Amino acid sequence: MEYINEIPRDEGFDNSISFLKEGYEFIINRRKNLQTDIFETRILGKQVVCIGGEEAAEIFYDSNKFSRQKVAPNRIIETLFGKNSVQTLDCVEHQHRKKMFLNVMTKEKIDELLDITKIEWEKALDRWSEEVEIVFYEEVKLLLCKAAFKWIGYPAHEEQAKKLVEELGVMFETPAAFGPQHWAGRNKRNRMEKNMEELVEKIRAGKVQVQEESILHQFVFSKDFEGNLLHRETVAVEIINILRPIVAISIYMCFIVMALAQFPHERVKLKKTSDYAHFFIQEIRRYYPFFPFVAAKVKAEFTWNGYTFKEGTLVLLDIYGTNHDPKLWNNPDEFQPERFASWQENRYNFIPQGGGDVEITHRCPGEQLTIEMMKITLDYLLNKMDFEIPEQDLYITMDRIPSIPKSKVFLKNVRRIRERIH
Ligand code: HEM
Repeated sequence: MEYINEIPRDEGFDNSISFLKEGYEFIINRRKNLQTDIFETRILGKQVVCIGGEEAAEIFYDSNKFSRQKVAPNRIIETLFGKNSVQTLDCVEHQHRKKMFLNVMTKEKIDELLDITKIEWEKALDRWSEEVEIVFYEEVKLLLCKAAFKWIGYPAHEEQAKKLVEELGVMFETPAAFGPQHWAGRNKRNRMEKNMEELVEKIRAGKVQVQEESILHQFVFSKDFEGNLLHRETVAVEIINILRPIVAISIYMCFIVMALAQFPHERVKLKKTSDYAHFFIQEIRRYYPFFPFVAAKVKAEFTWNGYTFKEGTLVLLDIYGTNHDPKLWNNPDEFQPERFASWQENRYNFIPQGGGDVEITHRCPGEQLTIEMMKITLDYLLNKMDFEIPEQDLYITMDRIPSIPKSKVFLKNVRRIRERIH
């Protein structure tokens, strides 16, 4: 006979304030205190079940058990995801839409983006070498924005790129914000979506020509799973779903600078062994906080480890906490890239960009691309440029999502130390 357990309960009637205060650590703090990988709490008046760890990730990414429809709150849809985006779909419709992304994540296409990005790095290095000080976060957002637009087949000139980067940046900088900041994010998304929709229309009508093999062309003429051309609003949302996260890699780029500053002995190891760069990048993705959790709703009642998940219950999977789970990682709060030399990765034990099989679940289709873009960054920072990191507040607070360093990473006296590659 199957035993039934009661899901442990968090203290207090409503924990919204603790949720906002503890941010990334809200779930893992309670998992530690209650000594459990599952607990129930109340956030913004809603009952929520929080789960974390490898086994929890495996159950969460079982698409027979969980749905993404009507899960994300409007405030997230209106800033981060966009309406009717791949993130909000289930089953056949989801897998069909997901292919749109996976089709452009081939090695060939990723290499193309890497080449484009290197050219932008070179141009940026020329510019930065003339400045006394740069704000690295702002600079690399712009660099990535230019690379992303060129990659999809619609290059933006300098002035356009400055406007576009502001619109894209605000979408991932404000999803957790309230008040004016949230509305700024919403307005920028509306504006960009409208412009993208117009572009989609013009390309479809032949008024704007883009190369047939470009990503933009592929997206503009994509069909839904019933064979109809996707609605132009949806195409606009999904194009932004490529551009926005590429620009968001800027946050990981800041973490690379921070790790080089916080752990200077790592430079020696990086210079000694070529494999070490991969371990270093993986450890950045594990150690620093980026995505706190992902959310889904129970499709139909089921039991897991004796706990009943009722239909319609909102469930949060602890992303940050799973990457800091002492059952999976020795000394999880220490920065130790070497751990990845012997790491046996499966689809559920290291989940900075989601878990499961990327073709089936909602796991991030841009994971490999992100890793490769981070490797280029590391190569530039270590081998192609000299810079100083002046005294500044590089602190990241666990209550700020996403956790952009307070100072936005000032660099001083940036100089090229290798010949220009182009
Ligand atoms: C900046 C680094 C990135 C991080 C931290 C990140 C993280 C994530 C996470 C946590 C998810 C959700 C997984 C889930 O819902 O279960 C996700 C999904 C997604 N990511 Fe990323 N991502 C990054 C970069 C990228 C890039 C570069 C792209 C595209 C070029 C991308 C496109 C997407 C899309 C389209 C989805 C939705 C997939 C789906 O619903 O099936 N991401 N990402």
